Amino acid sequence: MTPKQVKAIQESFAKVAPISDQAAAHFYGRLFEIAPAVKPLFRGDMEEQGRKLMSTLAVVVNGLSNLEAVLPAASALAKRHVDYGVTAADYAPVGAALLWTLERGLGEQWTPDLAAAWGAAYTVLSEFMIGEAYGRSIAAE
Ligand code: HEM
Repeated sequence: MTPKQVKAIQESFAKVAPISDQAAAHFYGRLFEIAPAVKPLFRGDMEEQGRKLMSTLAVVVNGLSNLEAVLPAASALAKRHVDYGVTAADYAPVGAALLWTLERGLGEQWTPDLAAAWGAAYTVLSEFMIGEAYGRSIAAE
């Protein structure tokens, strides 16, 4: 990720932050549409879950320019997800649902460059999390 991409991600996320409840609802709606098998893994209150997701994403997005600082928390988060029943393969539809949500939320401000930047950021983060939770060999597949 280039510094320019980091800036673009942070600025775009700031635009969806004011509508984060709505964005989270769209995100889960889309996720359960493209990956219905993960729905039973979510047992808690979905509004609460949406808020946790958006606030954690905010921490990660703000930490992108100094990724090392957020990696320990991302590692612990990834390991907790193993207990929630999440598999390495589940990270791909979650990434797709996230990008879809951002595209929807940003409308005309969603550009191919921004899509590439978000795609790169999610790839870095999810490969790291998968590696931490399931081992490097799975993350490399
Ligand atoms: C960038 C990646 C992700 C982030 C930032 C994230 C964030 C979170 C947060 C903040 C929580 C609250 C509990 C905790 O802190 O341990 C949570 C729970 C959970 N996440 Fe994620 N998550 C990510 C990836 C995924 C993926 C790939 C799945 C797969 C379907 C998933 C499914 C779940 C489930 C099932 C729970 C527990 C829900 C419940 O107890 O009802 N997450 N996630």
